[in-house]
Amino acid sequence: MGKRTIVTMPGDGIGKVVLKETLRVLDTVGFEADYINGDIGWEFWCKEGNALPDRTIKLLEKHKIALFGAITSKPKDKAASELAPELQGKGLTYYSPIVTMRQLFDLDICLRPCKTFKGNPLNFIRRGKNNVIEEPEVDVVIFRQNTEGLYCGVEWTNPPQNVYDALNTHPKMKNFSHIPKEELAISLRIFSKGATTRIVKAAFEYARNNKYKSVTVCEKPNVIRETSGMMLKIAQDMQKNEYPEIAVYDTNIDAQMMWLTKNPENYGVIVSGNMFGDIVSDGFAGLVGGLGFACSANIGREVAVFEPTHGSAPKYAELNPSIVNPCAMILSACMMLDHIGEHEKAAKIKNAIAEIIEEGNVKTYDMMKLPGSTKAIEQGAATTYQMTDAIIAKLKNKQ
Ligand code: NAI
Ligand code: MG
Repeated sequence: MGKRTIVTMPGDGIGKVVLKETLRVLDTVGFEADYINGDIGWEFWCKEGNALPDRTIKLLEKHKIALFGAITSKPKDKAASELAPELQGKGLTYYSPIVTMRQLFDLDICLRPCKTFKGNPLNFIRRGKNNVIEEPEVDVVIFRQNTEGLYCGVEWTNPPQNVYDALNTHPKMKNFSHIPKEELAISLRIFSKGATTRIVKAAFEYARNNKYKSVTVCEKPNVIRETSGMMLKIAQDMQKNEYPEIAVYDTNIDAQMMWLTKNPENYGVIVSGNMFGDIVSDGFAGLVGGLGFACSANIGREVAVFEPTHGSAPKYAELNPSIVNPCAMILSACMMLDHIGEHEKAAKIKNAIAEIIEEGNVKTYDMMKLPGSTKAIEQGAATTYQMTDAIIAKLKNKQ
């Protein structure tokens, strides 16, 4: 395969650090690519009034595949006050460039694997029979609908009269008839049949291709009947007609959050709407090492963006040397390699990380459960660079 062009969007804070380290790992494994920098994040909001400049959108349109670090977001008022003086008072509004990117490129499938690395001191453990400590292996992949649902952005405080009148055609609105319109805040949860079918299909295909035995629809269809109900029905029909060898289960999000800390090994592929997918994926990520290990992919029909789940961690951004765990970003890059068919290179990197963790000689501060400061280094924590170096050394040993 010819040389790829990958758009790299470091963003803010530790996003810059972990992305740079990831490129060192990709070079070592022999992935040949031209990397083109894409501007994104707070710096560009302040300087240009746009956290996702048009030039970056053009790069994504052209090259289709991107690695993304993390961005900083701040509340509306703070965002306005940090704008360059010449941009102030022009009515510019801050929007999260991540949400914009997802909507613009219809990155409707968010994929978040949560898999135990053997020997990770952060792994979930539980007390079993006869007080024996058990460490169940978690191997869960969450498919989160990424563009609709409760995060679709259709919301009002004090809704306009025509919206209010339309809502009042619903019999359940009677429960709110005594409340003044000005005191109502409304956020809509919209599911479309097309996008719901696409996320459910992606989950079943993944389960089939990767030999998972079940797909669990994690929603709340007993209460949120229309939207959750639609997803469940689509999944049940699809299972019956197209994936008879895979079991379909359904759980309610609230109960799922309890069960995942009791029997996380019972789950394989999970599919959810936007908000519940966000919640359940953070829940499982916490069982396999947390933010230092949580990787993700945002996949559209043409464009795909790979990013760690964590943010820009501003408190850690200026630490010298950097102490944050680069694994979440490096594992996100492995998802990119898998996406473009470079499975062998992805597997090599994942195996190198697995070996380092199992050996237990190189651990970042989070893996040692230490407070995040450079003092952790004196207590034996590896820096970001040392963790990357260890992964690179493993890869070189195998060549
Ligand atoms: P965060 O994920 O940046 O950091 C939370 C905490 O998690 C850190 O203080 C640190 O203790 C730990 N942590 C994060 N990444 C780590 C790593 N690689 N290794 C070890 N420990 C790590 O979330 P926070 O503090 O809520 O938000 C900070 C900024 O990031 C905000 O401006 C927020 O809007 C933004 N953010 C951006 C995201 C993105 O770009 N996808 C996602 C989440 C937050
Ligand atoms: Mg989240």
